[in-house]
Amino acid sequence: MKILVATEKPFAKATVEGMKSIAEKAGFTIALLEKYTDKKELLDAVVDVDALIVRSDKVTKEVIDSARQLKIVVRAGAGFDNLDLAACTGRGIVAMNTPGQNSNAVAELALGMMVYISRNCFCPGTGSELKGKNLGIQAYGNVGRLVAKIAKGFGMNVYAFDPFVPADLIEKDGVKVVASLDELYTTCQFVSLHIPANEQTKKSIGYALLTKMPHGGCLVNTARKEVIDEDGLIKALEERPDLKYITDIAAAAQDVLNEKFAGRVFATPKKMGAETAEANTNAGFAAVNQIIDFFATGNTKFQVNK
Ligand code: 3PG
Repeated sequence: MKILVATEKPFAKATVEGMKSIAEKAGFTIALLEKYTDKKELLDAVVDVDALIVRSDKVTKEVIDSARQLKIVVRAGAGFDNLDLAACTGRGIVAMNTPGQNSNAVAELALGMMVYISRNCFCPGTGSELKGKNLGIQAYGNVGRLVAKIAKGFGMNVYAFDPFVPADLIEKDGVKVVASLDELYTTCQFVSLHIPANEQTKKSIGYALLTKMPHGGCLVNTARKEVIDEDGLIKALEERPDLKYITDIAAAAQDVLNEKFAGRVFATPKKMGAETAEANTNAGFAAVNQIIDFFATGNTKFQVNK
C-alpha cells in the first residue's frame, strides 16, 4: 500500500521522518512530493497511490481522475475547502481532515498578530494593551475555543457567535454568547474569524459588519481569505481610519491594502498559522494513523464527505 504525501508547503523534516516510520511499521510505504510548482507533478505522482495526504494542496477532479487506485485522501489540517468532495464521492473515495491537530498553533498566531498590531507593529511609539478589550470569536470550533482561552489569560472580555454550538457549552468556558453577528461586531474591538470557507461564508464579511465595530476595531483573519468581501473591506478602511485588518492569508488585493492603509493592515508573507513543529507533527501523524486505521478497521470517524 502506498501513501503519497503531497505538500507544496512541506512538513518539518522530523515530522516526515516520523510519518515514514509510523507508516512502515504498519506495512505502508510513503512517497513524497514536496515544494512542487506545477500541478502536472501532482497528477503524475498520484497515479499509483492508495492514499493521499495533503495540506492546502488543491485536490481537484483532475487529480482524482488521475489517481486511479486512490481510496482515501486526508487533509492534514482543519479546512478542507481545497478538496473536491463531489469528485471524491463520485469515485467512492473517502475524504478526511484531522480536526483539532493544528488548532493551538493557529490560536497562538491569532493572539500574536493582535499583540503585534496593538504595539505599532513593534515600531517605536505608544501602543495599546489587549487587557480589558472585547474580543469576538466568530465560530466557536477547535481554534475559536483556544483563542478564547488564551485571550482570557490576557484579561480580555470574550464574546462568541456560533449558531451551531449550544450556548451553554460556550458559556461554561466563561465566554458570553451574543445573539447575532451584528451584536458581535457592535460589541467587540477585535473580531477573530474561525469560519470555514464554503458557499454560505464566502465574501460574507464586508462593509456592513466592519463599519459596526467600535472605534479602533480590528478584524483578525486566520481562517480563509475567501470569506472576506475585499471591496467592502477596502471601503470600510477608507471610511473609517480607525479600523484595522490583520490576516494570516494575504488578500487578493493585499498590495492595494498595504499601499493604502500602511500601519493598519498586516499579512503574514505566507500562511503560517499551522507552521509549528508541534502542529506539523500532530496533523501529519494523525493523517497517517487515520489512513492505517481506515484500511485496518474501516474507521471513517473523520470523514468529511459522508
Ligand atoms: C488548516 O485549515 O488546517 C490551516 O489553515 C492550516 O493550513 P496549512 O496546512 O496549509 O498550513
